[in-house]
Amino acid sequence: MGLHRCWQITLLIVSFFTLSLVEASSHHDPESLIAIFRDLANKEIAKPRTGIVYNISLPANFTGMQVSVIRLRSASFWSRGVNHSFFNIPPRVRAMPNIMRLSIVYDNLGNWSSSYYNVPNYTMVAPVLGFMAYSSPLPALIGSTRMNFSIQGDPITIRFPQMRPQGKNETPICAKLGDGGSVQFFNMAKPFECITESQGHYALVVPSERVEFPSPRAESPAPEVHSHTLWWVLGFVIGFVGLILVILVLFLLVKLDKRRRIRKMEGNSERDLPFDTFWVGESKMPSASMIRTQPALENEQFIVS
Ligand SMILES: *[C@@H]1O[C@H](CO)[C@@H](O)[C@H](O)[C@H]1NC(C)=O
Ligand SMILES: *[C@@H]1O[C@H](CO)[C@@H](O)[C@H](O)[C@H]1NC(C)=O
Ligand SMILES: *[C@@H]1O[C@H](CO)[C@@H](O)[C@H](O)[C@H]1NC(C)=O
Ligand SMILES: *[C@@H]1O[C@H](CO)[C@@H](O)[C@H](O)[C@H]1NC(C)=O
Ligand SMILES: *[C@@H]1O[C@H](CO)[C@@H](O)[C@H](O)[C@H]1NC(C)=O
Ligand SMILES: *[C@@H]1O[C@H](CO)[C@@H](O)[C@H](O)[C@H]1NC(C)=O
Repeated sequence: MGLHRCWQITLLIVSFFTLSLVEASSHHDPESLIAIFRDLANKEIAKPRTGIVYNISLPANFTGMQVSVIRLRSASFWSRGVNHSFFNIPPRVRAMPNIMRLSIVYDNLGNWSSSYYNVPNYTMVAPVLGFMAYSSPLPALIGSTRMNFSIQGDPITIRFPQMRPQGKNETPICAKLGDGGSVQFFNMAKPFECITESQGHYALVVPSERVEFPSPRAESPAPEVHSHTLWWVLGFVIGFVGLILVILVLFLLVKLDKRRRIRKMEGNSERDLPFDTFWVGESKMPSASMIRTQPALENEQFIVS
């Protein structure tokens, strides 16, 4: 029974650790974030006006991200384009399917970038920036149809904010961050500028540095993403060691418990077994009570006399 119980507890602890590790290592889901932005925008802006940029205020636990939305007539979008946030959509971009109005949601994931997107073997050197176009059937600001662009003139330009220089003089590469962690790389058109023909999320990356021992002369601060990864690795190791310790302790407890029970049984047999065996076959109860009460009586007599 004790062994079974201990196994149950061990299993529970193992599954707890596994779950927390999976949760810790899994990234936040960008698709659900996009849906949250859309819902917030629709909730916050009751009577949206066409052609006005609205900043969406986000719940406190999203601090660090920036989201804005603009609704446009398709005709004006086609003839004038829209230059907002970090994206310049020039004229002669057609939104498909062909509808009256569209809304474009812009986001800047800021310090959350690496929580939502991860480019293996690369380090992001600018925040992840995204834009997404939707149908805008009145009176809703953002409808459910996601639009596609058909570029008939110049492509869309993404202008990344210039971040602090990296330790190495690597030229960043543009990365389009697709669904399910897929990444497409392409070169910058100009420093900190990428060119694209589609909506979505974009980042600037440089190849990750190999982990080196810091030399005292080159004081290049490790990129934030790196120290993040290091912490996770450390957490993993500590968690794993802790798990093994817990299992060891449990096994020890099981062993001790077993030994104690065996000893108890042995103890019982020393005290009770001969007693029982001696009286086997005869009426146990009276004899036992006789034996047990006798010393008491003797004692009483002893005390009295
Ligand atoms: C929206 O937010 C951006 C960035 O924080 C800011 O520069 C801009 O002034 C804001 N616009 C409005 C209309 O509040
Ligand atoms: C903020 O909290 C909401 C509700 O608890 C959650 O859905 C959302 O993912 C959180 N935001 C972040 C950035 O984790
Ligand atoms: C777009 O706006 C930025 C400032 O927000 C400006 O520097 C840039 O020249 C504009 N681009 C075009 C093509 O108008
Ligand atoms: C980003 O910065 C804000 C404060 O500016 C902070 O509240 C938030 O926790 C940070 N997010 C991450 C993922 O570090
Ligand atoms: C990252 O680099 C390692 C070693 O150079 C390689 O084995 C791995 O396939 C790379 N991962 C990706 C996603 O390219
Ligand atoms: C947009 O294009 C994708 C494939 O490129 C397609 O699957 C999707 O249906 C298109 N959406 C619309 C609204 O046309």
